[in-house]
Amino acid sequence: MSAPYRVDLREHGIGVLLRNQAPSGAFVAGPAFSQYGYAWFRDGAFIAEALDLVGERAAAGRFHAWAAGVVLRSADGMARAMVDARLGRVPHPGDYLHCRYRADGTVGPADWPTFQLDGPGIWLWSLAHHVEHGGSVDADVLAAAGVVARYLAALREVPAHDAWEERPEHVHTSTRAAILTGLQGASRLGIRDVELDSATAELDRCLREAPLTKWLGADAVDASLLWTIAPYGLLRPDEQPAATLIDRVEHELVDVDGGVHRYRDDTYYGGGAWILLTATLARVRLRRAAPGDAELAGSAVRWIEAQASADGDLPEQVATRAFHPAEVGPWRERWGPSARPLLWSHAAHLALLTELDGHPES
Ligand code: BGC
Repeated sequence: MSAPYRVDLREHGIGVLLRNQAPSGAFVAGPAFSQYGYAWFRDGAFIAEALDLVGERAAAGRFHAWAAGVVLRSADGMARAMVDARLGRVPHPGDYLHCRYRADGTVGPADWPTFQLDGPGIWLWSLAHHVEHGGSVDADVLAAAGVVARYLAALREVPAHDAWEERPEHVHTSTRAAILTGLQGASRLGIRDVELDSATAELDRCLREAPLTKWLGADAVDASLLWTIAPYGLLRPDEQPAATLIDRVEHELVDVDGGVHRYRDDTYYGGGAWILLTATLARVRLRRAAPGDAELAGSAVRWIEAQASADGDLPEQVATRAFHPAEVGPWRERWGPSARPLLWSHAAHLALLTELDGHPES
């Protein structure tokens, strides 16, 4: 297969990520969108993965140093949150790690959800990925990784908002998977002890023994669960419960043109198809390698690239086949069109291109 992508969009995407990195090392999620002028651990961690994959190690390293600084400044509060969690109390907003920060590392406003546990887990995974791709980290960054690993192990059963900043009353499967991949990453960085090992083993058992649905007891699937297969690599695409998840996502969340939605009941901007999830499913298919999967991954690249604006910027989502079309207008009236550029969308596109380049059929 010849390169199925537009070279200019690859280069443009790298430029979007690099130009929008603050001097502090933070990545603002959507610099032109009123609600996304903040740096999330989750977005930044996936962006750093992509930068390492395309050889921009220094920029990824600056992000990790920024994230570590936020963690170390929050360490006293995190220790108090761990005590609360062990006593069955709800951690205090002044203590726990927030999900979004200003580029200068100060906590973002509380008008959006503040408490999520997947982001720090994804950060640990991305940090290990950075080191495994030739990045170096100093003692402060490793110290911060140790703080986060212990914090996540202690808080792992505390209900929190999910990756989409929703349903805070649940312990979400995709959050558990993010914590698991983070603890495994920490272990590869040499951060381990009996408590961390036992938390890791328990999370691994939970992941393998229950269906991959939004939370234990829920029936609905969520495309964020695909991250368990790619990029985290916690499950192989041919083993259960991963195989059933892929099957359900393909039947319930993929449009005829290949765009992938978050979940059936999604009403945010009408519940459109997300660039980053379309890229994720393509990466999962490349790892599954069933007949036709490589071609489907190539089609996903073309679909993603067709959503770029004339200047090459990728949006968060596309409303063409929104699950709840009546809900698109009210969101646009409130905040304007879907965020564009979304740095995470560009990162997902770049990560997919790298995976395609390394695929035997490309
Ligand atoms: C998404 C989050 C994301 C944030 C910034 C939200 O709408 O639900 O997953 O971190 O936007 O991109």
